Amino acid sequence: MHRYTALLSICAFVTAGCGSDANRRHAGTPEDPWIIGMSQCNLGEPWRVQMDADVRAAAAPYRNLQVIFKDAQNNSLTQRAQLEEFVQQGVDLIIISPKEAAPLTRPVAEAYQQGIPVIVLDRAVQGDAYTTFIGADNVKIGREAGRWIRETLNGTGKIVELKGLMTSTPGQDRNRGFLEGLELDAHPGLEIVFTGEMQWLEPNARREMESALVTNADIDVVYAHNDPGAHGAWLAARAAGREDDIIFVGIDALPHEGQQYVQQGILDATFLYPTGGAEAIQAALAILRGEDVPKTIVLGTRLFTQANVTEGGLPIN
Ligand code: FRU
Repeated sequence: MHRYTALLSICAFVTAGCGSDANRRHAGTPEDPWIIGMSQCNLGEPWRVQMDADVRAAAAPYRNLQVIFKDAQNNSLTQRAQLEEFVQQGVDLIIISPKEAAPLTRPVAEAYQQGIPVIVLDRAVQGDAYTTFIGADNVKIGREAGRWIRETLNGTGKIVELKGLMTSTPGQDRNRGFLEGLELDAHPGLEIVFTGEMQWLEPNARREMESALVTNADIDVVYAHNDPGAHGAWLAARAAGREDDIIFVGIDALPHEGQQYVQQGILDATFLYPTGGAEAIQAALAILRGEDVPKTIVLGTRLFTQANVTEGGLPIN
């Protein structure tokens, strides 16, 4: 009898160490909280710092929840290792905001297939081996940006597109939606005169824009896939004395970044890209309590321009 009990507890210990599903699904109490592993692809950008802060703030009231944060420092291999560590630790749930889709697809699937619920946040992975995806509709945001630019230019003008990292899904989607929204076939007066991949980073955007300025005497609009990119482009234009001739459009609209740029007259428009941090914690709690969550949770966006920035922007449906 004693031997049997001892064996059982050894098994329990070993399987918990191996990340067994049965042992992971405990009650989640303040004494024995649910552990969430959060893998952030990088913390070099204000938007990602905000995402972690939103996760932290949403989790704070729940004493039966503990979040372990990891920063992958913009390296997909590091992020893969972080997922493997979370699995080994036997965390109860993983939240990942992946740097790139392809390299993180398998590590996410492996964690999920071992019974650990995985919430994929903002950037997607391939396939459907995860519990839920939470993020805004980047095709729609790109389309709205394209439409805003087409209408603002009255169908005629020269455009620069500064793309995000094109191995990440928001870069691909913001480009595809943008082209749809511009309706180039129906508006031959619109022309994309320069495209560059700035990989979400302001210094890269500045460099790309320097090239665009040198090779193009006329530029009417810069569409950058995020606000740091739009700001980098503005810095390059200002250094060339051309910032007043160009309209700058970005995406993210953080209050202390994009919205402030609009208020300062640096950007003409920016579209909100919500971090989803609070929604991720709500979904995590539902999953841990055994409730069903939708496979995809789509977050909304808003348009900020000088006309509406003080009133909190305009919702886009
Ligand atoms: C931050 C960021 C944001 C952008 C998002 C896309 O890393 O580049 O600026 O909206 O990632 O995933």
